[in-house]
Amino acid sequence: MPGTGARPPVLKREIGLFGATALGIGAIIGSGIFIVTGIVAGIAGPALIVSVLIAGAIAVFSAMSVAELGVYLPAEGGTYAYARKLISPFAGFIAGWIWIFSNIFVGAAVSLGFAHYFVTLFPAVPVKIIALVICLVFIGINYLGLKESVLFNNILVTAKVLILLFFVAFGLGFLRPGNFTPLAPDGSLGVLGGAALIFFAYTGFARVTIMAEEVHDPGKTIPRSIYLALGISTGIYLLVSIVAVGLAGAPALAHSGSPLADAIGITGSSGAVLVISLGAMIATASVLLTTIMGISRIVFSMARSQDLPPLLGRIHPRFCTPHYAIAITGACMIAALLLADLALVVAVSTFAMLLYYLIANIAALRLPREHRRYPAWVPGIGALSCIGLIVFLSPVSWVIGCIGLAIGGAWFFFRKNVAS
Ligand code: ALA
Repeated sequence: MPGTGARPPVLKREIGLFGATALGIGAIIGSGIFIVTGIVAGIAGPALIVSVLIAGAIAVFSAMSVAELGVYLPAEGGTYAYARKLISPFAGFIAGWIWIFSNIFVGAAVSLGFAHYFVTLFPAVPVKIIALVICLVFIGINYLGLKESVLFNNILVTAKVLILLFFVAFGLGFLRPGNFTPLAPDGSLGVLGGAALIFFAYTGFARVTIMAEEVHDPGKTIPRSIYLALGISTGIYLLVSIVAVGLAGAPALAHSGSPLADAIGITGSSGAVLVISLGAMIATASVLLTTIMGISRIVFSMARSQDLPPLLGRIHPRFCTPHYAIAITGACMIAALLLADLALVVAVSTFAMLLYYLIANIAALRLPREHRRYPAWVPGIGALSCIGLIVFLSPVSWVIGCIGLAIGGAWFFFRKNVAS
């Protein structure tokens, strides 16, 4: 690969099952488990654990749809490519557009997540400044063209999984059973509101599909890696949320910007707090890396298909990266992290990602019968559950998400009717 975002003349099928699974886990485990668990504990109480389970179960249906689509059409671009082929060019465009939109907010969220844990170690520095710096660093790395990014991702993923397992193993001996009651102080509304927000923690499970042309034996590797990444993450999330609630209790998690560090702090071990804070920074940095990489690939794909201005598909002569795409989406990421708080960027990103999976499920419903791996009720439930979760997100996130959608729609019709 010449660089993070560039499409070389011939894509090599170099990513095997481990690399593909790591790509998924790399995109999945980040601010969601390290930060959003705190916000969700404030909404659902100890039933945060139930919210994690519900969101994971809902993710499975969309993952199954994405897996069958990935086998049917193992092309770069993910749902952007599936929806173009199976629904309409407009649906494909909207899928690509909201994917970019959502991931701009993911980038903002993980930069803020990184900063929240950084300040547990160095409290004198303002959160937004750290978030800005880390975001700029990773935009720069992508702009310059990071080599061996799959290997680097594998290392980061292994580290973050081990650190979360350490959190579970170390914290397990210090749980307080009283922290689990009352389980759901705000009833089922709190639990479902929590599930909608913690869905953020699962987004990224389909990341491998946007690099499908680089995957070895895609018919087998794509579905297996999606299920493995989602299964491993769900298991870890459940264990971590049980231990976090058992250690600190929901109210303390809710009031913390770095909930897992504060939870492990209950053990009295400052070494453990350091390990978890470093783990959070590694996890969020790894999501930031794959997010910017992913955005640059989708933007590149869309510019190549003339859905976005050709400028965005232009490759830097020296660094071989789509530098305009990286610079412009990076600038949007910075604006989001400076202007909004963490809960809002998470909600907006989740809103857009649920719309993206909704389109993926609709595309799966339109698969020719002979290409279906699962009965139609699988994408059917997937689509309905995406709509169901959107209802529980904050109205502000609907408004910002719809504005993003409207800008995309306006561009599509302008390009089609005026610019061409
Ligand atoms: N799932 C990703 C995270 O939790 C976006 O950071």
